[in-house]
Amino acid sequence: MKNWKRYTITAALPYANGPKHIGHLAGAYLPADIYVRYLRAQKRDVVFVCGSDEHGTAITIQAIQENTTPRAIIDKYHGLIKDSFDKLGIAFDIYHRTSEPLHHETAQEFFLDFYNKGLFKEVTSEQYFDEEKKVFLADRYIVGTCPNCAYENAFGDQCEKCGKALSPSELINPRSTLSGNKPVLRETKHWYLPLNEYEPWLKQWLIRDHAKDWKQNVYGQSKSWIDAGLQPRAMTRDGEWGVKVPLPNAEGKVLYVWFDAPIGYISATKQWAKENNKSWELYWKDSDTRLIHFVGKDNIVFHCIIFPVMLHMHGDYIVPDNVPANEFLNLEGDKMSTSRKWSVEMHEYIEDFPDKADELRYVLCSIAPETKDSEFTWKDYQTRVNSELVAILGNLVNRVMVLTDKFFDNKVPQAGECSELKTFITTQREKISDSLEHFHFREALSEMLNVARHGNQLLSEKEPWKLIKTDKEATAIVLYDCLQIIANLGILCEPFLPFTSKKIFTMLNLDERNFAWADAGRQDLLKVNHQLGKASLLYQKLEDEVIEAQIAKLKKTIDHGPMTAEKTNTAVQSKIENRKSEIEFDDFTKLDLRVGTILTAEKVEKADKLLKLSVDLGFETRTIVSGIAEHFKPEDLIGLQVSVVSNLAPRKIRGIESKGMILLAEDAEGKLHFVSPKELTTNGSVIR
Ligand code: MF3
Ligand code: ZN
Repeated sequence: MKNWKRYTITAALPYANGPKHIGHLAGAYLPADIYVRYLRAQKRDVVFVCGSDEHGTAITIQAIQENTTPRAIIDKYHGLIKDSFDKLGIAFDIYHRTSEPLHHETAQEFFLDFYNKGLFKEVTSEQYFDEEKKVFLADRYIVGTCPNCAYENAFGDQCEKCGKALSPSELINPRSTLSGNKPVLRETKHWYLPLNEYEPWLKQWLIRDHAKDWKQNVYGQSKSWIDAGLQPRAMTRDGEWGVKVPLPNAEGKVLYVWFDAPIGYISATKQWAKENNKSWELYWKDSDTRLIHFVGKDNIVFHCIIFPVMLHMHGDYIVPDNVPANEFLNLEGDKMSTSRKWSVEMHEYIEDFPDKADELRYVLCSIAPETKDSEFTWKDYQTRVNSELVAILGNLVNRVMVLTDKFFDNKVPQAGECSELKTFITTQREKISDSLEHFHFREALSEMLNVARHGNQLLSEKEPWKLIKTDKEATAIVLYDCLQIIANLGILCEPFLPFTSKKIFTMLNLDERNFAWADAGRQDLLKVNHQLGKASLLYQKLEDEVIEAQIAKLKKTIDHGPMTAEKTNTAVQSKIENRKSEIEFDDFTKLDLRVGTILTAEKVEKADKLLKLSVDLGFETRTIVSGIAEHFKPEDLIGLQVSVVSNLAPRKIRGIESKGMILLAEDAEGKLHFVSPKELTTNGSVIR
């Protein structure tokens, strides 16, 4: 492996148009931070940059919809997001903003460099324009009737009903989603990056240099983009919000957000260098600098294709050596989404769990979506915290501190080095290093925890609380070893659990600044007779109520109340986002769907939502409890023919055994409609 002199580590600049959730954290920011802390512990030269991505059509449109300005939106969220990262221990060297003049200059310099070298293709084309709102409309802001299936609300890029890929000009009766008016076609000129011309260079770079050392998902996705053939891509947009195109006669043109945002990494580095008296150029132009981009999977193409091409076109820049992108983190069985309120936002977590940053870091790292999508559930969060952090790490530290205080006046007892233990910790350190070097964060974390497990084993084998009665010397040896293990853990857990590490060093009465990664494995981190600090609990057990409250908070968002007009659009989109993955025909045939008639309906006592129904299925009459009491009056249901999943395993709901489920359609407003046969038919008829 190459001997790198320094590291430039970037984490995707979050769009500052809303809060960020724990999926973002697990995808990019946490792994980046762990990696950087590990590098710093090794005393390597590293800069860790991030900041707000403040431009783009999405923010412009959002401002129009919310009747405010892009500036007001980004000012609000820039601070909120920055503060959340701080409190979760994500330790950037700088958190910059793409609205800063320094960034605008840097992005314009790139544009002019390409322009002056004649690298852009200028193309004039016709695009839809909203005359009332005075904006060009990106494809998905145009809706109209699908030419394929006649669905009336097909988007300009795709019909969500029949799935056909569309272009806005194919829509019958196109309408702007902003004003509802018919958009008009207008000519407009833009500057295109001829990605196709860089295909040979890209291929060589990617396939020759990175087929082996990049993660499979990242390499695979990049390669398939290249294999499919690259097209020139417009690097400018019409609009007012963004970095102005630095050419005469280019009023009303700004740089495409994906052109300027990655350059934000460079401008952030410049700002940091200024403040710290460093040379930014070493971090971007010296071939001994290792550039690594941490991003989520939706960012792969921009960081593995477009930005590298830009850096290459400019000439004297280095290109990324790795892009260890993660997959997505789902939440309680569904895709995480801020707009649908199906998410755990970072700032909400901090509010609800102050001083529990490491708990979240621990859980997110142990379930990180490294090779495939993974899932966060509150129950699993509770289990991992209680049975791993509390029971293993917290318990070890607490027991050893308490016993040392009791038996040895809170001083490190006299004992000799144990070479076995030394070898064990050194081996663990190397395993952790090796995993981190390969971006296997889950593995690294579990090897770290194994060090604590080892300490607990020592305790339960030797039982110092009993041993003390017969053999004080042997007790001293056990506690000495355990204390050294804890001190080593202070070093080894720091990348993952920085707050815990600090607490450990404080408890041990050591100055963490005196220890580096390479010290892990030493058996004399604590000198004999060293006075220890005060013991305190590292973690608190998470009680069921706390976890249930979080689950209830989420569930509340499903039973959403009446919707406003704007919300409907997101709701429709979210239902579509929510589409389930493909199943086999056999899966479908497992369902025994039948027609039945509701014979009786009554409210379930003390349950606002539930109705108890008896349903005649022809072959038998069933009791079914259904959560529809807020939508229908019991007396309106009698005699209604409905569709029933008849072979669903029985469930007890409020003490009533419910056998089966009635099918209802839920529309975007949350209104329910029975799915019933069009004409009356025999009860028990099979639905297939
Ligand atoms: N704002 C983008 C997103 O959230 C990421 C930008 S990364 C950068 O998906 F490279 F452009 F900065
Ligand atoms: Zn269609």
